[in-house]
Amino acid sequence: MSHLHLGIIGCPIRHSLSPVLHTYLLQQNGQEGSYRSFETQPSNLAERVSDLLNSGIRGFNVTIPLKQEILPFLTDISNAAKTIGAVNTVLVHDNRLHGHNTDSSGFMRSLQHSGIEIKQRSAIVLGAGGASRAVIYGLLAEGISEITIANRTLERARNLAVSMGRFFPETAISVCDWNIEKIASHISERALIVNTTSVGMWPDIDKTPFVLPALPAEAIVVDLVYNPLETQFIAQGKSAGASTIDGLNMFIFQGVAAFEIWLGRAAIFDLEVLRNLLLEKLASYE
Ligand code: ATR
Repeated sequence: MSHLHLGIIGCPIRHSLSPVLHTYLLQQNGQEGSYRSFETQPSNLAERVSDLLNSGIRGFNVTIPLKQEILPFLTDISNAAKTIGAVNTVLVHDNRLHGHNTDSSGFMRSLQHSGIEIKQRSAIVLGAGGASRAVIYGLLAEGISEITIANRTLERARNLAVSMGRFFPETAISVCDWNIEKIASHISERALIVNTTSVGMWPDIDKTPFVLPALPAEAIVVDLVYNPLETQFIAQGKSAGASTIDGLNMFIFQGVAAFEIWLGRAAIFDLEVLRNLLLEKLASYE
């Protein structure tokens, strides 16, 4: 393939790690190309999309606050992205825009990488925003047995449970108040507890959604936050006796899945090398 012209749109994106990730992937896969940041506000999205099409771009990532705003510009949308209601990856082909959501597949690949089989598990998902939708879709599509959504604004959790329930009527989806005693009553032997909120993200590194109670040895605690790598939530999961997964692998796998869509084949990469590269970049911001 000739020069692969790639990029990311959103705002703010000055501190995005995606250029480092994709520049590494281009090099590792012997692919000539570039990945550039295009700071874009909702008000200039139409102009930006038209400019990108004219520039011969092969694809681009879409981040906050444009993951839903981009939908009307797309020729078609994958089933996953349609159900999630958000697109983070666009493939350009013959002047047409194809929308995908790799946040969801990235999350599932990060679980798979840690050897987690979700079929016999129940999940407790903290948060009911965009990241939560992608996580919940992935878990439901891969056959989790039960999901509980806890959110500070209960109404949002309810709406999410109802909208996902339409697509997955056979799985029990319940909601729970933003209260650790109530949440604790949903923690089963093989619970997967996922923080999809941004609570604990740098610079608020001393914050945590909840102080976790003692957990069964088979429980798994996952945080989507990766800056810092060991959030308070992850540290508590460890002291509460659970296995833990930080958010950096999900970030990497969503990027790899996007890159594979643009490249048209499986990508070669070394996870440890990538993690170190991204951690170095994060450290340079602080
Ligand atoms: P994202 O796309 O990252 O998920 P979002 O759609 O704005 O972002 O959703 C943010 C989520 O984090 C929501 O579930 C939000 O709870 P509310 O629906 O009650 O707003 C949650 N959240 C953000 N800050 C929070 C805080 N300080 N405590 C609890 N939940 C918080």
